[in-house]
Amino acid sequence: MRKKFIAGNWKMNKTSEDAKKYLEDFNIYVKDINDVDIVLCGPFTALCRMRKEIGQNIKIGAQNMYFEDKGAYTGEISPIMIKEFCDYVIIGHSERRTYFAEDNATINKKIKKALEHGLKVIFCLGEKLEQREKKQTKQVVETQLREGLADVTPEQVKNIVIAYEPVWAIGTGQTATPQQAEEIHAYLRELIGVIYSVNVAEEIRIIYGGSVKPNNAREIISMPNIDGALPGGASLDPESFSGIIKASLQ
Ligand code: PGA
Repeated sequence: MRKKFIAGNWKMNKTSEDAKKYLEDFNIYVKDINDVDIVLCGPFTALCRMRKEIGQNIKIGAQNMYFEDKGAYTGEISPIMIKEFCDYVIIGHSERRTYFAEDNATINKKIKKALEHGLKVIFCLGEKLEQREKKQTKQVVETQLREGLADVTPEQVKNIVIAYEPVWAIGTGQTATPQQAEEIHAYLRELIGVIYSVNVAEEIRIIYGGSVKPNNAREIISMPNIDGALPGGASLDPESFSGIIKASLQ
């Protein structure tokens, strides 16, 4: 049985003071939950405060990183810096791909660098609306998966959680149906079996993201190949984020 995995992505929201207030409530809402891996991914400037305030059953994630250890890269953040506060880092989010021109090769460099430093990776991929309409979804996610995981060993891939996030469902209120999501999750798991092994495919967690809310989380997460969720908007409020976590327990 794969343990459920729910990660909240705050994106570019919340100061460190906001994070403190959030955690005062959130820690209480989820304090007895140990059967789900809970991760909160805050902005870089809140990570230090989050580390101090967060409950022991919650892990912290960053939302991005650069693929070098240190040096003259003004404005960038290295995996070594993230490691001070976080266990996880999100890599390949569609907003990074779209607004910051990250391609599969860049994402692959970031994934390998994060793993080299012992960070766990939430690796996001997913098709755009026009690609779905042209029936290219499987082809697109296969390329993203293969190129993103190039040279990642079977040992390392165990430290990756894959997040399937159809771009047309992110922040739009339009979720994929549980069946649409399940079809792609099953396909991704099959590919992991081909690239690595059936055992790795059985163990790896594949979570869904795109307008997940407390009222639709249950039916999505109960699909056989969907191991959790990556909510954005619904993670900004501690009550609604904890509602999604509780829905995954049922
Ligand atoms: P959303 O974002 O839940 O607001 O659609 C999901 C994500 O981008 O990870």
